[in-house]
Amino acid sequence: MASRTAICRGLLRRNSITGARSMSSWWTSVEPAPKDPILGVTEAFLADPSPDKVNVGVGAYRDDNGKPVVLECVREAERRIAGKMNMEYLPMGGSVKMVEESLKLAYGENSDLIKEKRIAAVQALSGTGACRLFADFQKRFRPDSQIYIPVPTWANHHNIWRDAHVPQRTFHYYHPESRGLDFASLMDDVKNAPNGSFFLLHACAHNPTGVDPSEEQWREISYQFKIKGHFPFFDMAYQGFASGDPERDAKAIRIFLEDGHAIGCAQSFAKNMGLYGQRVGCLSIVCEDEKQSVAVKSQLQQLARPMYSNPPVHGALIVTTVLGDPELKNLWLKEVKGMADRIIGMRYALRENLEKLGSSLSWEHITNQIGMFCYGGLTPEQVDRLTNEFHIYMTRNGRISMAGVTTGNVAYLANAIHEVTK
Ligand SMILES: Cc1ncc(COP(=O)(O)O)c(C=O)c1O
Repeated sequence: MASRTAICRGLLRRNSITGARSMSSWWTSVEPAPKDPILGVTEAFLADPSPDKVNVGVGAYRDDNGKPVVLECVREAERRIAGKMNMEYLPMGGSVKMVEESLKLAYGENSDLIKEKRIAAVQALSGTGACRLFADFQKRFRPDSQIYIPVPTWANHHNIWRDAHVPQRTFHYYHPESRGLDFASLMDDVKNAPNGSFFLLHACAHNPTGVDPSEEQWREISYQFKIKGHFPFFDMAYQGFASGDPERDAKAIRIFLEDGHAIGCAQSFAKNMGLYGQRVGCLSIVCEDEKQSVAVKSQLQQLARPMYSNPPVHGALIVTTVLGDPELKNLWLKEVKGMADRIIGMRYALRENLEKLGSSLSWEHITNQIGMFCYGGLTPEQVDRLTNEFHIYMTRNGRISMAGVTTGNVAYLANAIHEVTK
């Protein structure tokens, strides 16, 4: 007869087999997530063996040889940091100096709001993290609010506010016929939204359209927001990258501040300092007074604590070193202008090439739009032809990343676009 221990062992073995089986069935209901449309473009581009292939899908700056760039000011900052930094945790709100420098960039060197300590601000995980932190903050403290998002917008905005469980509404932005701003409809939507609505605005270089309101239009939008008591949340992912001048690119924000709006702002150093993978950014919220700002900041930290505790240190140190040193800051200003100028130059080259080929279509929008992207004029079917016949890769909405256009490929690209749009 089997001993008690042997029987127990047998039972245990049987149970652990059943256990293993049930463990492997925990995730059987999980379907693969849909592919990210932008990352899918890069995958297809990498898999294409053609020597002619061109990637104008990627949202990161490339030099005139199509290569990623590390700015010289960043290299120098790294040399200065090397060997000196420790690996201690940053405070929950991130690097105080990094946040100070970010605020000066967005709100102005001599901003009264900064002097009066009226801005609650924390270091964030780049622009995406700043938007997400704000969306969570909005949900926690204004649980019944919605967010108005422009059509179209950077696709991740929808994911961010969806995952923060904030209901989304949309407002008119792009006018397909003129490939410009649908200002009249935008203003109607602002007027018709319930008083005190939250609106997401791109501070400059609207993604994906490259269409920004003029200064005059921003003034009218700001005025209408004031009347309606709306909350403007600015996503500023491209400060300096649009015009080449960070001050000029902050104009929309400054107009709203002049009008006394209590804005929110997401800043990113991914594009303008080329710190894509470092994930360094800032979330700021203008408050009524210092007391309110202390409270708001403490709540932002409280939100960050269970998500990631505190942000990474290396990128923050690079930003602080560059912006905190007048010589390095000047170098950065020159380099950011260099990136913007190369992109603006490529806009003119692409338009000129298309016009030289005798295209009867209007390509004016290429040079009217600003920032990294050129939008409009290509149908999904034409994009498919560009990919299948010419090995040119972009998202099917026809968004061309001007960062991928170089003196070496602009003629080839123009010719292909001309062929598919004849
Ligand atoms: C409009 C907009 N907002 C935010 C981001 C966020 O970028 P990151 O999280 O890399 O700073 C991007 C990046 O493409 C963007 O285009």
